[in-house]
Amino acid sequence: MKKPRSLLLLLAIAIALGISATGQAAGLKKGFYKKRCPQAEETVRSIVWKHVSTNSELPAKFLRLFFHDCFVRGCDASILIESTSNNTAEKDAGPNLSLAGFDVIEEVKTSLEKACPATVSCADIVALAARDSVSFQFDRLLWEVKTGRRDGTISRQSEALLDIPSPASNFSVLTGRFANKSLGVKDLVVLSGAHTIGVGHCNLFSQRLYNFTGKNAANDTDPTLDPTYAALLKTKCRSLADKTTTVEMDPGSSTDFDNHYYANLKEKKGLFVSDAALLTDQRSAKLVGKLLRPGDFFDAFRHSITRMGAIGVLTGTAGEIRNKCSVVNS
Ligand code: HEM
Ligand SMILES: *[C@@H]1O[C@H](CO)[C@@H](O)[C@H](O)[C@H]1NC(C)=O
Ligand SMILES: *[C@@H]1O[C@H](CO)[C@@H](O)[C@H](O)[C@H]1NC(C)=O
Ligand SMILES: *[C@@H]1O[C@H](CO)[C@@H](O)[C@H](O)[C@H]1NC(C)=O
Ligand SMILES: *[C@@H]1O[C@H](CO)[C@@H](O)[C@H](O)[C@H]1NC(C)=O
Ligand SMILES: *[C@@H]1O[C@H](CO)[C@@H](O)[C@H](O)[C@H]1NC(C)=O
Ligand SMILES: *[C@@H]1O[C@H](CO)[C@@H](O)[C@H](O)[C@H]1NC(C)=O
Repeated sequence: MKKPRSLLLLLAIAIALGISATGQAAGLKKGFYKKRCPQAEETVRSIVWKHVSTNSELPAKFLRLFFHDCFVRGCDASILIESTSNNTAEKDAGPNLSLAGFDVIEEVKTSLEKACPATVSCADIVALAARDSVSFQFDRLLWEVKTGRRDGTISRQSEALLDIPSPASNFSVLTGRFANKSLGVKDLVVLSGAHTIGVGHCNLFSQRLYNFTGKNAANDTDPTLDPTYAALLKTKCRSLADKTTTVEMDPGSSTDFDNHYYANLKEKKGLFVSDAALLTDQRSAKLVGKLLRPGDFFDAFRHSITRMGAIGVLTGTAGEIRNKCSVVNS
């Protein structure tokens, strides 16, 4: 009987990936640590809020860290693993530029290991830290984080390059990378709204200012970039060679988590080619218009980040609970 067997195989694959037929992550649940480590979520929140209160750039760091973790091998904290003499880890891939917040994650982990040894995964800490840090300015938690993720043991630089889209990506590359993680066009547009906080390095977009067609013309600027905004960016990023200057992705409110990203996009002030690309497809452009309504954005973000947080999770007895977030258990 060929059919039932292939069905069983499919089911086994779905379980192995931690994804059930409904697209929900199997095994994650609300308050997973309630009995095992009652103070777990409160400990993450209080340490994260302590740091965010003196460093308003941290929410952007944690939100991006969560994205990079989930897109490579699922949300398994593989992004936290340090390279060793025989392995170059994800965090040392090109797109890691400016990833940060590792020390705060490790501080949370150390505190939780004291309270409840070998119980709380680094993967859950990353998921909670993203939510908690972004929520600080609202003084309430913006989305629910189901827990029960376990930690992976593998982290490879090469995989980060295949899974994380480059800021030069066009719409079809972006949708391809997201579809690869079971995320749709709506998730792409909504999660890109994360660029309402944080900064980008000049070299990741300055070809739009100085060398867009690649012909080194005198004024080779991306015509889809607002000319006044392009001129302003040129005063900050002085040449193609500048790799150190950063600019706010949402000028003037780059530490406010709001839906202003979409207003910028509409005005042709998206920073990266990958941002501007969201206007190059009809359906996506329509979503951009819809997300200009604040209520729609917050609801949609809550939904899409929950889906992102379920990508390829390890649950049950898969993986391990790392003792230290930066190294796999020996
Ligand atoms: C759609 C594809 C995406 C691309 C191509 C992309 C690309 C980038 C790039 C190139 C940067 C600047 C890094 C630097 O210069 O240091 C950046 C920053 C950032 N990204 Fe994305 N990103 C994408 C999606 C996402 C998603 C899904 C999230 C989270 C849900 C996210 C959150 C952030 C945040 C918060 C920052 C600011 C980081 C900081 O201030 O250090 N991005 N992104
Ligand atoms: C090399 O990798 C193997 C597993 O792939 C690991 O067991 C071993 O400890 C590593 N050696 C060093 C020196 O990191
Ligand atoms: C990012 O990767 C580069 C090598 O590509 C490495 O030198 C750098 O330390 C890494 N940054 C972080 C924060 O791990
Ligand atoms: C998008 O970019 C990819 C990779 O650079 C390229 O192969 C493809 O032709 C581009 N698609 C469009 C519609 O421009
Ligand atoms: C999908 O992901 C795999 C590895 O996880 C990668 O090899 C492949 O290039 C990706 N496909 C797209 C369309 O991004
Ligand atoms: C401008 O772009 C072209 C094509 O992408 C590239 O070959 C050239 O090296 C770039 N010029 C500079 C100065 O980076
Ligand atoms: C050069 O580009 C800027 C936008 O960056 C535009 O305002 C200006 O008119 C352009 N100059 C010429 C000579 O095309």
